[in-house]
Amino acid sequence: MKLSQKRIVVTGGGSGIGLVMALALAAEGAHVVITGRGEAKLAEASSQHTNISPYVCDVTDEAAVVALRDAMDAAGGTDVLINNAGVMHRFDVTKGFPLEKQLQEIDIDVSGPVRLIHHFLPGMLQRESVIVNVSSGLAYVPYAAAPVYSASKAFLHSYTLGLRAQLAGTSVRVVELLPPVVDTEMAAQLDPSFARMAPEKLVAAFIKGLKNNADEITPGQSAQLKLMSRLAPRFIFQQLNKNPRG
Ligand SMILES: NC(=O)c1ccc[n+]([C@@H]2O[C@H](COP(=O)([O-])OP(=O)(O)OC[C@H]3O[C@@H](n4cnc5c(N)ncnc54)[C@H](OP(=O)(O)O)[C@@H]3O)[C@@H](O)[C@H]2O)c1
Repeated sequence: MKLSQKRIVVTGGGSGIGLVMALALAAEGAHVVITGRGEAKLAEASSQHTNISPYVCDVTDEAAVVALRDAMDAAGGTDVLINNAGVMHRFDVTKGFPLEKQLQEIDIDVSGPVRLIHHFLPGMLQRESVIVNVSSGLAYVPYAAAPVYSASKAFLHSYTLGLRAQLAGTSVRVVELLPPVVDTEMAAQLDPSFARMAPEKLVAAFIKGLKNNADEITPGQSAQLKLMSRLAPRFIFQQLNKNPRG
């Protein structure tokens, strides 16, 4: 697909992978709306390119999601919806971790994409468009130290497969990006021994996959996790989880 002049929403586009994506898409000539919860952060991020606009929208706030959809429609519609916003909590279940935080993690990482897709899909079915769900290589092999996060990404992977099958033959294409460990604020809480991919490298692979109409984009170690989860699931689980409580 061509990206020039496309109207794109990147949730969680004010920092991390989402911001690097927004900058790369803007450089391709797309008009990118970045969303997040912090107004000042979004303003600072969007000041980096004239093709990027900020929009405050918490993916757990249904009224805000509807308002975002309406604002996009009023400006000409949505060609690409990128469900990138996410949080990860790493915790030891035996020590306890606030239930509220665990449920909020599900609300952002699971219900967030479902909410966005529910409200954007009717408009997107009226035009050639693409939904991108950003899950994780951990969708293939769970990381025990982040149990709710890993389960959320497995949900998103399964949901994406179902969506793609249902939307085959419509005007909406469904793409999944499964990043490996990427050097962002989120990865700061991970085991320091894990290799980190630069966000620019991840985004270059993503843009290439998007342009080539790939369905599933598995850069770096995500491809190995996918293969190993089929060939030797117990072995790869043990390798990833030598210290399951983090
Ligand atoms: N980094 C990795 O190693 C890695 C690996 C695999 C997959 N991923 C996935 O890639 C995506 C981006 O991760 P990242 O590494 O860029 O994380 P990040 O640096 O922590 O950035 C996450 C972004 O999501 C936004 N966000 C969080 N909660 C939100 C909410 N309720 N509503 C709207 N925006 C929200 C944050 O902005 P505010 O807090 O200002 O709202 C922030 O801009 C996530 O889905 C993550 O699970 C990351």
